[in-house]
Amino acid sequence: MWVVWSLVSCLALLIRSAHGGSFYQDIDLIWGQNKAKIMGNGRLLELVLDRESGSGFKSKNDYLFGRIDVQLKLVAGNSAGTVTTFYMTSLGDAHDEIDFEFLGNLSGDPYVLHTNIYAQGKGNREMQFYLWFDPTRNFHTYSILWNPQRIIFLVDGIPIREFKNNEAAGVPFPRSQAMGIRGSLWDADNWATRGGLVKTDWSQAPFRAFYRDLAIDACAWWTSPACAARGWYRQGLSRRDQRRMRWVQRRYMIYDYCKDVKRFWQGLPRECKLPAAA
Ligand SMILES: *[C@@H]1O[C@H](CO)[C@@H](O)[C@H](O)[C@H]1NC(C)=O
Repeated sequence: MWVVWSLVSCLALLIRSAHGGSFYQDIDLIWGQNKAKIMGNGRLLELVLDRESGSGFKSKNDYLFGRIDVQLKLVAGNSAGTVTTFYMTSLGDAHDEIDFEFLGNLSGDPYVLHTNIYAQGKGNREMQFYLWFDPTRNFHTYSILWNPQRIIFLVDGIPIREFKNNEAAGVPFPRSQAMGIRGSLWDADNWATRGGLVKTDWSQAPFRAFYRDLAIDACAWWTSPACAARGWYRQGLSRRDQRRMRWVQRRYMIYDYCKDVKRFWQGLPRECKLPAAA
């Protein structure tokens, strides 16, 4: 009986999490709770940053592999100094992490989308992009696809970055620690905009960023067969996806750690030296 029951609740959990969730159901506000707000029946979340503090949330559950989609509308106007984040992370010294961070800018100057990956406590895998639209005007969808073979970052369904599992070549890959989903809006004017040159203009505060329709299609830490049968569990990039990713990287990528020989003067990270097809 117990077995049947746990099977049923397990399936229910999987099925529930496959649908567009509710912020009430899926997250806890963990920072600046007095200013962050869930609205629209749980579909919409507003994060706020003022002089006193920023705000942020964390998922109630942790996940091992999954596809997470969320729509974001970033701080409008003069957002210099502010950073809006959407990321997954585990805890501890040897933590894993997958990051989307949006670095604000002066009105009319472009946001920077900063991405990074930590495996076993080590990051330093930044890639940065401009966006091909104004991310403050409308909602756009940002997604993390994480399976045992790869991590893919997507913007409006277009892959912008892929990090492959190259453990066979000695490159650590996040695949044994469950991660929670997090988001925050905070002040980082010591580094965010033009490397910290442009400071936050507090006369524009409070700053607001909006998160909509968080969709979690992910596995719990005990990877069940039902989970491994999901489409995203084995998904890679089609030829068309690869072409689109190359297009984005050619036109909009402004920083690639794999090209930064000044920073890695002692040698580029191992994955940078593997053939792209590896
Ligand atoms: C802000 O705008 C400047 C000028 O266009 C640009 O160099 C910079 O990359 C932009 N983004 C950030 C986060 O500094």
